[in-house]
Amino acid sequence: FSFDAASEAEIAKVLVKYPEARKASAVMPMLYIAQRQMGRETGSAWVPVAAMDEIARRLDMAPIRVYEVASFYTMFNTRPIGRYHLQVCTTTSCWLRGSDDVVHACKKAAGVGGFGETSEDGLFTLTQVECLGACANAPILQVDDDFYEDMDGPRTEALIAALRAGERPPAGPTVNRCGSAPEGGRK
Ligand code: FES
Repeated sequence: FSFDAASEAEIAKVLVKYPEARKASAVMPMLYIAQRQMGRETGSAWVPVAAMDEIARRLDMAPIRVYEVASFYTMFNTRPIGRYHLQVCTTTSCWLRGSDDVVHACKKAAGVGGFGETSEDGLFTLTQVECLGACANAPILQVDDDFYEDMDGPRTEALIAALRAGERPPAGPTVNRCGSAPEGGRK
């Protein structure tokens, strides 16, 4: 694995934030950079072991320390995923507000059997995640790095149909509950 020019530019901006003796603190942004590069190159945003080894080398860390970080956080994918990563929060607020409907709609519209699985067409991977910190607009469906809020079954199916068609609907609140959405909310 080697970082491309776009990643090297990002790395330079990250490393300058840390003293040389503390550069291991850059491990998380470095993992993100590697994951995004894999997404650009292969359509599957994940971090192979070879990339973790390269990060360990660049940050003077034992490779196991990088593996530990990558495997602890759900935002890092340590195996290939679909082009779109559907991450459904099923923690209490989202569960009480209907995350089961979102999960069901994801399975139906994306053609995914269950959590941790990828659709046969390679487009969608479904993951169950813990609280995403956006409970006021539960339930939340995170797609890659975008939060789609106030979801329900029909909205989820419409979103997945749009993704399948190559569109990327605007993320954020849909019913104006937090006051940050446009007048009347996004319909
Ligand atoms: Fe789902 Fe907090 S419980 S965002």
